[in-house]
Amino acid sequence: MTADLPATATRADEGQSLRGFLASLDDDQLIRYTVRRRDFLLGAIVDELEKRDSFPVVQLTDPDTGAKTVANTFANRDILKGRVHNIMDVERKALEFGGLEMVRNPPCQQNVREGALVDLSALPVFRHFPGDAGPYITSGVVIARDPENGRHNFSFHRMQIKGKNKIGVSLHSRGDLWRYMAASEAAGKDLEIAVFIGAHPAYYIVGASKVPPPQDDYSWAGAYMNAVPKVAKSVRAGIPVPAFAEYVLEGRVLANAREDEGPFGEYTGYSTSRSTRNVFMVDAITYRNDAIWQDLVPGFAWEHLLLSQLTKEIILLNKLRQEIPEVKALCLPKNGCHFHAYLSMSPQADGQAKQAMLLLFGLDPYLKLIIAVNEDVNVFNEQEVWWATATRTQADRDVFIVPRVLCNRLDPSSEDGMAAKMGIDATKPAGWDAQRLSLPESAREQALGLIQGQAPA
Ligand SMILES: Cc1cc2nc3c(=O)[nH]c(=O)nc-3n(C[C@H](O)[C@H](O)[C@H](O)COP(=O)(O)O)c2cc1C
Repeated sequence: MTADLPATATRADEGQSLRGFLASLDDDQLIRYTVRRRDFLLGAIVDELEKRDSFPVVQLTDPDTGAKTVANTFANRDILKGRVHNIMDVERKALEFGGLEMVRNPPCQQNVREGALVDLSALPVFRHFPGDAGPYITSGVVIARDPENGRHNFSFHRMQIKGKNKIGVSLHSRGDLWRYMAASEAAGKDLEIAVFIGAHPAYYIVGASKVPPPQDDYSWAGAYMNAVPKVAKSVRAGIPVPAFAEYVLEGRVLANAREDEGPFGEYTGYSTSRSTRNVFMVDAITYRNDAIWQDLVPGFAWEHLLLSQLTKEIILLNKLRQEIPEVKALCLPKNGCHFHAYLSMSPQADGQAKQAMLLLFGLDPYLKLIIAVNEDVNVFNEQEVWWATATRTQADRDVFIVPRVLCNRLDPSSEDGMAAKMGIDATKPAGWDAQRLSLPESAREQALGLIQGQAPA
């Protein structure tokens, strides 16, 4: 157990909080530095750790004030696996978590600043890359209500601090919030939102997930935490917010107002000014005593990419398997930054791998390259995928390209929101007779014993 809890909360309460999550980490899963937070530092620490194949949660403690900042919370599949439930069957599990539990005097409202007392410059927000237009909140998840049915939606949006109570925000992924905003603007109304910063990872994973309607994003948070979400009504608009969040901002995305936002260092590894240029006016900030600032290292960092990949891989795999049960596994590799996918399958006929790839392109507009391999290849091992590509494909027979298809506009090589889609069928063609080398299991077991220091049999 590593993180201290403040006197105001019990450990039982904290099961749904960032603090509870930090307290559950083993010593080798959390690395602590006592240092003042400053521009660029967290990203540099995380980058250097990544270069050393190290993916712990990182905590900075200010030597003067004791204030804490954490980041890299989502960089490690193993850390999340043990602490977030039911990843494979979240859609079914969510059916058990339709409700919300209201918490009176919630920790997230221990301190309340409203109206003229709102001052975003008091938040410990910093710049992440020298090219950024200013300090950005990178870990803010927006909660909004679907204007048609009241369901709650969570989504991530980069937030540029622009003044005491003004934030520039981009809705460029054109998901649910973008649609709610379009409906609000058509009605000439601002859109009420609440934003949490610093919460249990389950809330963040849902923020990065496209929850299929009519499910409520809170029911997915419940499924991932295996508990009914404990919430409080936000102080202005009464939007349910996680009761144990560290910070909550509340306000309105203005109808028909646009202002420059960006550039900002994005998940592609490039700085971009592409933005929907929306304006978020903050009417209230609430926060916990000794609030912990949670940052999410943006750019080409593992946590930025893995957060979306975790649920995307599962949702896409489940959809693919509904149509083509021969598909076995799917990986969105880090270096593809959401644009590449590796899928494994046991094709029943020549051409079926191509069919699976075309279906996957249809399901995810971000994808530009898919490699299909046989089941004997581990899609989570890049070396194996490219070995199969090297030894089982002929470009004139196994590669296809579909030109000018809708894509993600943050791809700097895209044109007019379109990109070419390339599929590589690296599965064995009919009549394949090359034998893959393999070692006897008994020799492998003995070798493992020796490596792990056991006496040789
Ligand atoms: C770390 C992170 C940052 C993101 N930043 C943005 C952003 O600035 N703007 C945006 O439109 N989408 C952003 N996204 C993507 C959306 O939050 C995400 O696609 C979400 O699932 C939208 O789902 P929805 O359609 O259910 O609202 C980000 C995702 C992650 C994981």
